[in-house]
Amino acid sequence: MREKNACTFEPIGIIRTPYQDSAPYQPVDSDSGEFRIILDDRYRDGLVQLEKFRYIYVLYHINRLDREVKMTVSPPWAEGRQIGLFASRSPVRPNPIGLSIVRIKKIEETSIYTSGLDVFDETPLLDIKPYIRDLDTKLDANYGWLDDADDMEHLAQHIQGVPHEH
Ligand SMILES: C[S@@+](CC[C@H](N)C(=O)[O-])C[C@H]1O[C@@H](n2cnc3c(N)ncnc32)[C@H](O)[C@@H]1O
Repeated sequence: MREKNACTFEPIGIIRTPYQDSAPYQPVDSDSGEFRIILDDRYRDGLVQLEKFRYIYVLYHINRLDREVKMTVSPPWAEGRQIGLFASRSPVRPNPIGLSIVRIKKIEETSIYTSGLDVFDETPLLDIKPYIRDLDTKLDANYGWLDDADDMEHLAQHIQGVPHEH
C-alpha cells in the first residue's frame, strides 16, 4: 500500500554533461563542452514552443550522494560559516532535488542543448520549466547571509561559479 503523503517521481529524461565526478557549484554560462538534456521520447510533444524561450529551469534528482543530511552546513568556500541547510544550495538535502537556470542554445528532436550545467553526467531529469522575464526576476533580491560577510563580493563569485583568482 502507498504510504500516506508519499510522493514518487519518475525521471523524464537524462542530463549529459562533461562532468563525471566533479562539477561547478552552480551553472556557469560560459562553460565549454556539451550540455544536453535528453527528454524521453514519450514527452517529445511537451517541447513544442519551448525554443521561443531563452532560459529554462531544469529540475533534477541529485542521485549520487553518499553524505549524511545535516541541518547545518558550511559551504566549502564559506570559510567556516555555519548556516542552515535551507539557507544554502547544498546538494545534500532530505529531498535531493537540484535546480539550475540555463540558456537554451538549440533544440533538436528531444535534445535541448544548453549553456553550462552544474551536474554530473547522466543525472536524472525531473522537470523543465520556462524562465519568464518579470515573473521570475525579482529586482529587490539580495544575497541573504552573504550580505553580512566582509568578503561578500568574493563569495558571490563562488556562488555564481565565476572563475576568478584567489
Ligand atoms: C551545490 S549543487 C547546486 C545544484 C543546483 N544548482 C541547485 O542550486 O539546486 C551542485 C553540486 O552538486 C553536485 N552534484 C551534481 N550532480 C550530482 C549528482 N547527480 N549526484 C550527486 N551530486 C551531484 C556537484 O558536486 C555540484 O558541484
